[in-house]
Amino acid sequence: MTEQVDFLIIGSGIAGLSYALKVSDFGTVAIITKKQDSDSNTNYAQGGIAAVVSKEDSFEEHIQDTLKAGDGLAKREIVQKVVEAGPKCIKELQELEVRFSMKNSKEFDLGKEGGHSKNRVVHVADATGRELERVLLENVRKKKNIAIFENHLAIDLLTQHQRKKKSKRKEKIECWGAYVLNVETNQVEKYLAKITLIATGGAGRIYLHTTNPEIATGDGVAMAYRAGAEIANMEFFQFHPTSLFHPKGKYFLISETIRGEGGKLKLKSGETFMEKYHPLGDLAPRDVVARAIDAELKKTGDSCVYLDITFLDQDFIKQRFPNIYNYCLPLGIDITKQWIPVVPSAHYMCGGILTDAEGKTSLENLYACGEAAYTGLHGANRLASNSLLEGLAFARFASQSSKCLLSKLKWETFPEFYDWSVAGVFDQKEWVVLAHDREELQKIMWDYVGIVRSNSRLNKALKRIEILKEEIEAFYKANPVRYDLIQLRNMVTVAELVVLSALKRKESRGLHYTLDYPKKDDKKFLRDTILRKDLP
Ligand code: FAD
Ligand code: SIN
Repeated sequence: MTEQVDFLIIGSGIAGLSYALKVSDFGTVAIITKKQDSDSNTNYAQGGIAAVVSKEDSFEEHIQDTLKAGDGLAKREIVQKVVEAGPKCIKELQELEVRFSMKNSKEFDLGKEGGHSKNRVVHVADATGRELERVLLENVRKKKNIAIFENHLAIDLLTQHQRKKKSKRKEKIECWGAYVLNVETNQVEKYLAKITLIATGGAGRIYLHTTNPEIATGDGVAMAYRAGAEIANMEFFQFHPTSLFHPKGKYFLISETIRGEGGKLKLKSGETFMEKYHPLGDLAPRDVVARAIDAELKKTGDSCVYLDITFLDQDFIKQRFPNIYNYCLPLGIDITKQWIPVVPSAHYMCGGILTDAEGKTSLENLYACGEAAYTGLHGANRLASNSLLEGLAFARFASQSSKCLLSKLKWETFPEFYDWSVAGVFDQKEWVVLAHDREELQKIMWDYVGIVRSNSRLNKALKRIEILKEEIEAFYKANPVRYDLIQLRNMVTVAELVVLSALKRKESRGLHYTLDYPKKDDKKFLRDTILRKDLP
């Protein structure tokens, strides 16, 4: 089966849906998404969206906070463009009827998070993402020229490498859509598109412990890399300091806005410790807090630290953090009376597919947006709540740019592509290997490529990842494609990119901290780490 649309959007989180709503005004749109339409990191976002919407705040302060977090690598012009788009993005969401938490009919109730000098996090209690997904999906469903294909998993991009007639000249790589696995029929379909947007989100699942849901396997980055796109700054993986430490709440986040309301990190003994590590104490930037917890756990041998908000008014806690309160209560933790056990876990992929200020990648007709992209906003570390903002802002910029590009692309000049080939593959009935490989990969990444790194740990990781990659690639070539196999192939590719990038950065900056080079080296490393696959 072949689908043909003006815009192919891979992913139905904030980035994909926001772009879809905009480009549907000038073309036909297919959104493909690998599970149900709301399955995304977006759906789990708690804290909110950073934006300058109060008289006490200013663009310059938000810009400075973002640049500071980015530790020398965030690009001023991109930061400014995104920050200035913030209020417009929030206004548009209000027009779509997102029900933000308000102080009164005019003023937003603004949360605070680490690294922000002002209260500027617009939110919907502590379940901002769920409301955003609900509203964006509701609006997308109303649009006649948008079709959503659930349980459709993009496998690879269509470029000249899959073209029937190949040119002898070495030309710029162009993207014309993707091969997509229809998970219900198990058939691979061709989606031809004049413009493709990768909005596949992050890759937290390459780590054993993460706040990310199952979909976060880095597919977009892996696909783009295989197709020859430039990938930037993959060494910067953000660990959230406070994910719930409980056997039944493995992937649950405890929002930083709890610390924004005064929450205190404590050891088992009740001793606070963040004041030893940073003048901002509990509201220091995330990398500092995560490393401090890691150091305290190593010193004490404890399995977790605690977050205490029991001194706040009980009704306020229930009304401000209903999602966290209701999640923890059945697990035996009443957050109004008990400290919450927390540990750091993998949370956000700061690197990604390199784009320009309009969201264009290094491949023709291919855009990337949201967590899958590296736009220059976050640099070496992301300021809390800047990612939902980035998804919204870049969906705007990319849609404006796509409108101009679309008018130049013609179906008449579209090349022909091979159908997906199943020649030479047969089911070897050894699928159990995949679960083992996946677990091994997640452990390697957790043990050797975590919050504190070293050359020896990274080299160990690389050796093991290369072996896994070879095995998985051989399995992929011999067996029919399947959902878990495609994801694992992507996960191992992304893990390799993280390690290769980390090995290249022989300094400590932002989220990348290595015992071998504990200092920042602006002379040699005030630059992005860019990886690109050499293709024939
Ligand atoms: P996602 O929302 O992850 O969407 C990706 C989509 O791509 C999904 O629909 C997925 O199914 C689909 N997909 C992936 N691969 C494929 C494939 N191969 N084929 C088809 N479909 C595919 N950021 C903030 O700014 N503020 C917050 O308060 C905040 N809180 C967070 C809390 C949690 C628990 C987590 C995990 C993250 C949080 N973040 C927050 C980060 C933020 O939520 C994400 O960075 C952002 O939502 C990413 O949006 P996205 O559209 O890029 O990707
Ligand atoms: C949180 O609520 O702590 C998550 C915010 C973010 O990751 O931006």
